[in-house]
Amino acid sequence: LSFIQPPQVAWASGALADGPLLRKSTRIQDLTHVFADENARQQLAGEQVVYDVEMLDTSPADGELYTGVTHLYPGRVGCEYFMTRGHFHARREQGEVYFGLRGTGLLLLQTEQGDARLEKVFAGSVHIIPGFTAHRLINTGEEVLSALAVWPGIAGHDYAALARGFRIRVFEENKRVQAKEVQNG
Ligand code: F6R
Ligand code: ZN
Repeated sequence: LSFIQPPQVAWASGALADGPLLRKSTRIQDLTHVFADENARQQLAGEQVVYDVEMLDTSPADGELYTGVTHLYPGRVGCEYFMTRGHFHARREQGEVYFGLRGTGLLLLQTEQGDARLEKVFAGSVHIIPGFTAHRLINTGEEVLSALAVWPGIAGHDYAALARGFRIRVFEENKRVQAKEVQNG
Protein backbone atom coordinates (compact mmCIF):
# COMPACT_ATOMS: atom_id res chain seq x y z
CA LEU A 1 0.00 0.00 0.00
CA SER A 2 1.18 3.52 -0.73
CA PHE A 3 0.62 6.46 1.61
CA ILE A 4 -1.50 9.33 0.42
CA GLN A 5 0.13 12.75 0.45
CA PRO A 6 -2.45 15.11 2.02
CA PRO A 7 -2.65 18.85 1.40
CA GLN A 8 -0.45 20.93 3.69
CA VAL A 9 -0.72 24.23 5.47
CA ALA A 10 2.56 25.92 6.39
CA TRP A 11 1.71 27.10 9.91
CA ALA A 12 4.11 30.03 9.83
CA SER A 13 2.83 31.60 6.61
CA GLY A 14 -0.59 30.02 6.19
CA ALA A 15 0.32 28.90 2.67
CA LEU A 16 -1.79 25.97 1.48
CA ALA A 17 -0.13 23.50 -0.89
CA ASP A 18 -0.27 20.11 -2.54
CA GLY A 19 -3.96 20.04 -3.29
CA PRO A 20 -6.32 21.54 -5.85
CA LEU A 21 -6.78 25.12 -4.69
CA LEU A 22 -9.31 27.84 -5.36
CA ARG A 23 -8.13 31.44 -4.94
CA LYS A 24 -9.96 34.74 -4.64
CA SER A 25 -8.58 38.24 -4.16
CA THR A 26 -10.74 41.02 -2.74
CA ARG A 27 -9.61 44.52 -3.66
CA ILE A 28 -10.35 48.06 -2.53
CA GLN A 29 -12.65 48.45 -5.57
CA ASP A 30 -14.76 45.48 -4.42
CA LEU A 31 -15.45 46.96 -0.99
CA THR A 32 -17.82 49.83 -1.80
CA HIS A 33 -19.48 51.17 1.38
CA VAL A 34 -17.83 48.53 3.58
CA PHE A 35 -15.64 51.07 5.40
CA ALA A 36 -17.00 54.04 7.34
CA ASP A 37 -15.11 56.59 5.22
CA GLU A 38 -16.22 55.92 1.65
CA ASN A 39 -14.31 58.99 0.38
CA ALA A 40 -11.08 57.67 1.85
CA ARG A 41 -11.71 54.33 0.13
CA GLN A 42 -12.12 56.07 -3.21
CA GLN A 43 -8.78 57.83 -2.75
CA LEU A 44 -6.97 54.48 -2.56
CA ALA A 45 -5.88 52.49 -5.63
CA GLY A 46 -8.84 50.30 -6.55
CA GLU A 47 -6.54 47.44 -7.56
CA GLN A 48 -4.95 47.17 -4.12
CA VAL A 49 -5.65 43.77 -2.64
CA VAL A 50 -7.15 43.87 0.86
CA TYR A 51 -7.35 40.09 1.33
CA ASP A 52 -6.70 36.82 -0.44
CA VAL A 53 -8.54 33.58 0.30
CA GLU A 54 -7.10 30.19 -0.69
CA MET A 55 -9.38 27.17 -0.35
CA LEU A 56 -9.06 23.46 -0.88
CA ASP A 57 -11.33 22.45 -3.75
CA THR A 58 -13.34 19.84 -1.86
CA SER A 59 -16.92 18.62 -1.97
CA PRO A 60 -19.74 21.03 -0.98
CA ALA A 61 -22.08 18.14 -0.20
CA ASP A 62 -24.15 17.93 2.99
CA GLY A 63 -21.86 16.85 5.83
CA GLU A 64 -18.60 17.81 4.09
CA LEU A 65 -16.27 20.56 5.29
CA TYR A 66 -14.43 23.36 3.51
CA THR A 67 -10.93 24.44 4.50
CA GLY A 68 -9.49 27.83 3.60
CA VAL A 69 -6.90 30.39 4.61
CA THR A 70 -7.54 34.13 4.61
CA HIS A 71 -4.54 36.45 4.25
CA LEU A 72 -5.67 39.92 5.33
CA TYR A 73 -3.08 42.57 4.52
CA PRO A 74 -2.14 45.43 6.85
CA GLY A 75 -3.57 48.80 5.99
CA ARG A 76 -6.32 51.29 6.69
CA VAL A 77 -9.11 53.08 4.90
CA GLY A 78 -8.93 56.46 6.57
CA CYS A 79 -8.37 55.45 10.21
CA GLU A 80 -10.25 52.13 9.91
CA TYR A 81 -8.20 48.96 9.73
CA PHE A 82 -8.41 46.66 6.73
CA MET A 83 -11.03 43.97 7.28
CA THR A 84 -12.97 41.30 5.45
CA ARG A 85 -16.47 42.08 4.16
CA GLY A 86 -17.94 39.78 6.81
CA HIS A 87 -21.03 37.61 6.59
CA PHE A 88 -23.66 35.41 8.15
CA HIS A 89 -23.87 31.94 6.71
CA ALA A 90 -26.82 31.54 4.34
CA ARG A 91 -27.66 28.49 6.44
CA ARG A 92 -27.75 30.51 9.65
CA GLU A 93 -27.39 27.56 12.02
CA GLN A 94 -24.02 26.51 10.56
CA GLY A 95 -20.92 27.39 12.60
CA GLU A 96 -17.24 27.64 11.72
CA VAL A 97 -13.82 27.42 13.38
CA TYR A 98 -11.03 29.95 12.77
CA PHE A 99 -7.40 29.41 13.82
CA GLY A 100 -5.01 32.34 13.93
CA LEU A 101 -1.75 31.55 12.09
CA ARG A 102 0.25 34.79 11.96
CA GLY A 103 -0.13 38.48 12.58
CA THR A 104 -2.42 40.21 15.03
CA GLY A 105 -5.99 41.31 14.74
CA LEU A 106 -9.54 40.87 15.88
CA LEU A 107 -12.44 38.64 15.00
CA LEU A 108 -15.69 40.60 15.13
CA LEU A 109 -18.70 38.43 15.93
CA GLN A 110 -22.29 39.64 15.81
CA THR A 111 -25.53 37.82 16.56
CA GLU A 112 -28.80 38.24 14.71
CA GLN A 113 -30.01 40.32 17.67
CA GLY A 114 -27.15 42.74 17.00
CA ASP A 115 -24.95 41.86 19.98
CA ALA A 116 -21.32 42.26 18.89
CA ARG A 117 -18.04 41.17 20.48
CA LEU A 118 -14.36 41.08 19.57
CA GLU A 119 -11.88 38.23 20.06
CA LYS A 120 -8.12 38.73 19.80
CA VAL A 121 -6.54 36.86 16.86
CA PHE A 122 -2.88 35.76 17.02
CA ALA A 123 -0.77 32.75 16.05
CA GLY A 124 -2.42 29.81 17.78
CA SER A 125 -5.73 31.46 18.69
CA VAL A 126 -8.81 29.23 18.25
CA HIS A 127 -12.20 30.79 17.52
CA ILE A 128 -15.44 28.87 17.76
CA ILE A 129 -17.98 30.76 15.68
CA PRO A 130 -21.41 29.49 16.69
CA GLY A 131 -24.33 29.27 14.30
CA PHE A 132 -26.44 32.43 13.81
CA THR A 133 -23.30 34.59 14.23
CA ALA A 134 -21.82 36.90 11.59
CA HIS A 135 -18.03 37.15 11.44
CA ARG A 136 -15.40 39.54 10.12
CA LEU A 137 -11.59 39.57 10.46
CA ILE A 138 -9.81 42.87 11.18
CA ASN A 139 -6.04 43.35 10.84
CA THR A 140 -4.88 45.73 13.58
CA GLY A 141 -1.19 44.94 13.11
CA GLU A 142 1.60 45.82 10.72
CA GLU A 143 2.03 42.27 9.36
CA VAL A 144 -0.22 40.06 7.27
CA LEU A 145 -2.97 38.49 9.39
CA SER A 146 -3.51 34.88 8.28
CA ALA A 147 -6.22 32.61 9.65
CA LEU A 148 -7.24 29.07 8.80
CA ALA A 149 -10.98 28.38 8.63
CA VAL A 150 -13.02 25.19 8.52
CA TRP A 151 -16.75 25.39 7.78
CA PRO A 152 -19.57 23.24 6.42
CA GLY A 153 -19.80 23.05 2.63
CA ILE A 154 -23.53 23.71 2.85
CA ALA A 155 -23.14 26.88 4.99
CA GLY A 156 -23.08 29.39 2.11
CA HIS A 157 -22.64 33.14 2.59
CA ASP A 158 -25.12 35.94 3.19
CA TYR A 159 -23.37 39.28 2.69
CA ALA A 160 -26.53 41.34 2.21
CA ALA A 161 -27.83 41.00 5.77
CA LEU A 162 -24.97 43.15 7.10
CA ALA A 163 -24.44 45.38 4.07
CA ARG A 164 -25.16 48.40 6.31
CA GLY A 165 -22.36 47.38 8.60
CA PHE A 166 -21.63 45.65 11.87
CA ARG A 167 -22.28 47.33 15.25
CA ILE A 168 -18.57 47.72 15.98
CA ARG A 169 -15.87 49.40 13.90
CA VAL A 170 -12.17 49.37 14.75
CA PHE A 171 -9.93 52.38 14.12
CA GLU A 172 -6.39 53.49 14.79
CA GLU A 173 -6.45 56.65 16.89
CA ASN A 174 -3.36 58.18 18.49
CA LYS A 175 -1.47 55.03 17.44
CA ARG A 176 -3.84 52.89 19.49
CA VAL A 177 -6.48 50.35 18.53
CA GLN A 178 -9.90 51.80 19.32
CA ALA A 179 -13.14 49.86 18.94
CA LYS A 180 -16.30 51.94 18.64
CA GLU A 181 -19.95 51.02 18.78
CA VAL A 182 -21.81 52.57 15.87
CA GLN A 183 -25.42 52.72 14.74
CA ASN A 184 -26.03 50.57 11.65
CA GLY A 185 -22.38 50.78 10.65
C1 F6R B 1 -16.02 31.12 5.20
C2 F6R B 1 -15.32 32.18 5.96
C3 F6R B 1 -13.99 32.70 5.46
C4 F6R B 1 -14.27 34.02 4.73
C5 F6R B 1 -13.03 34.80 4.32
C6 F6R B 1 -13.35 36.06 3.52
O1 F6R B 1 -17.28 30.89 5.73
O2 F6R B 1 -15.81 32.71 6.92
O3 F6R B 1 -13.34 31.81 4.62
O4 F6R B 1 -15.07 33.74 3.62
O5 F6R B 1 -12.34 35.19 5.47
O6 F6R B 1 -14.31 36.86 4.18
P1 F6R B 1 -15.66 37.28 3.46
O7 F6R B 1 -16.27 35.99 2.92
O8 F6R B 1 -16.51 37.89 4.52
O9 F6R B 1 -15.31 38.19 2.34
ZN1 ZN C 1 -17.93 32.09 7.39
